[in-house]
Amino acid sequence: MTIFPLAPLKIGKITLDPPLILAPLANISIPATRIMAEKFGAQLTFTEMVPTAAIFRGIDRAIRLIAPSNKNKPWGVQIFGNDPHEIEFTANYLAQMKVDLIDINMGCPMRDIVRNGSGAAMMKTPKLAAKLVEAACLGVKGKIPITAKIRSGWDEKSINAPEMASILEKAGCKMITVHGRTRSQIYSGKSDPYIISEVVKTVGIPVIANGDIFDPGSAERILKITKAKGIMIARGSFGNPWIFRDLKNLLQGKPLLPPPNPLHKLTVLKMHLEMLKKGNIHPKRKLTEIKKHLAWFSKKLTGSNKFRKDIFAARDLESIEEMIRNFEKQFSSS
Ligand SMILES: Cc1cc2nc3c(=O)[nH]c(=O)nc-3n(C[C@H](O)[C@H](O)[C@H](O)COP(=O)(O)O)c2cc1C
Repeated sequence: MTIFPLAPLKIGKITLDPPLILAPLANISIPATRIMAEKFGAQLTFTEMVPTAAIFRGIDRAIRLIAPSNKNKPWGVQIFGNDPHEIEFTANYLAQMKVDLIDINMGCPMRDIVRNGSGAAMMKTPKLAAKLVEAACLGVKGKIPITAKIRSGWDEKSINAPEMASILEKAGCKMITVHGRTRSQIYSGKSDPYIISEVVKTVGIPVIANGDIFDPGSAERILKITKAKGIMIARGSFGNPWIFRDLKNLLQGKPLLPPPNPLHKLTVLKMHLEMLKKGNIHPKRKLTEIKKHLAWFSKKLTGSNKFRKDIFAARDLESIEEMIRNFEKQFSSS
């Protein structure tokens, strides 16, 4: 039995039709990348995780991360922290900024974050995690939904995503995204769809499946196993906004389209470059960020190994643009 079209998902004031989400991604989820994902079919995007301790103290660098993407699209903000007062303050501040949804990060595996008891360390402290959700709900005064993004557990001996999700639901969480890896796995091994399906069976709120979705086949598999209400994509979108076009068609039960040809890819790459150039990225990081995206976009194209090597060696934007023009010639003349 086909599961497509997947039903639209209503969360707070927004409806995701289809429920196709770009994951929060540190250093990547800037407006340019989110807008590109939306143009290709993502229905909800998030900022990268924003530290509530820095928002509470009014640190400009953190406040700038809260940028919306496109004014007509839902504005998701992901936050992390371990202090209920800072979470309540930030949630209240974000509600006044009229964001559409606040997600609390309970899955980040990075040492600096978990050492502070934040991110994936929350998987070990469900009571504190619930307090954070309650504090965020208090902060937004019911105006916008609070959601959470969790992992399957801290390590293989302590898989607790279903219990955790149930505790978070009782605390007021309105949607849960589950990445089917433990914190110990970081990004190694495989994401386990069966633990996500256990979460779906345990809670009444919508569950979003995340982990290892790289194409329509993997999306279909995870949805069939988990019966989740939607999917979230991270690494599969790097240099590949077409994944949203393909997954949108899949979820809506429409026929799939052929992959883009090289010239089409490069034209989108140049459009993305223009958006990145104008984007609100720290000047010191701009060139590095641009190089990263160009390398992803050019992957699998003929001659891309040399192109990538040259790009990473480039010292300024002008030489990068010249390299793109030269790289493009081989495709435009064919
Ligand atoms: C470079 C990078 C940055 C990430 N940043 C965040 C983040 O800020 N917040 C978050 O919840 N997860 C973050 N993640 C995890 C992803 O959102 C996602 O859960 C994970 O990559 C699994 O999905 P995938 O298999 O589609 O990549 C990040 C992952 C990567 C690779």
